[in-house]
Amino acid sequence: MASKALHQKLNEQITHELGAEMQYLAMSFWFERENMPGMSNWFRKQAAEEHEHAMKIVGFLNEWDLPILLKSPPNPTTEFENAESIFAAALAHEQGVTKQITEIFSMAREESAWHVEVAFQWFITEQVEEEVNARDNLARIRMVGNNPAALLEFDRHLSA
Ligand SMILES: [Fe+2]
Ligand SMILES: [Fe+2]
Repeated sequence: MASKALHQKLNEQITHELGAEMQYLAMSFWFERENMPGMSNWFRKQAAEEHEHAMKIVGFLNEWDLPILLKSPPNPTTEFENAESIFAAALAHEQGVTKQITEIFSMAREESAWHVEVAFQWFITEQVEEEVNARDNLARIRMVGNNPAALLEFDRHLSA
């Protein structure tokens, strides 16, 4: 079905997704304090998506009759320099997750765990989208620079 190593990786991925949820919540709360409700809302939605990702893997493990050995994620970073540094951190985070997902996919293929490979195709597609969004946001916040009007406009854009 799945090797011990792959089973462990799948369990770890649940923790990574929950860690991403916590990290995005911390970013959302920072924006809230900085009076940027649109960006705060965007990160809160991202956090909810990360929670769904974790639950999706939980669902897979249940279907495959593999025990879930839940571990806590590390504490999130809560202090940031500015909005740009948050969007840069979010992109770096998504790139890291893409690497984790790719590793699971490669392991599944190597050991002919086709059910895992098929299930993780969804995550591969999802990560492409996540990286596109993160890159767009970073590019836009860099364009905003020190222009308050542009910042408010971008904040409004992300509230939609
Ligand atoms: Fe995720
Ligand atoms: Fe993500």
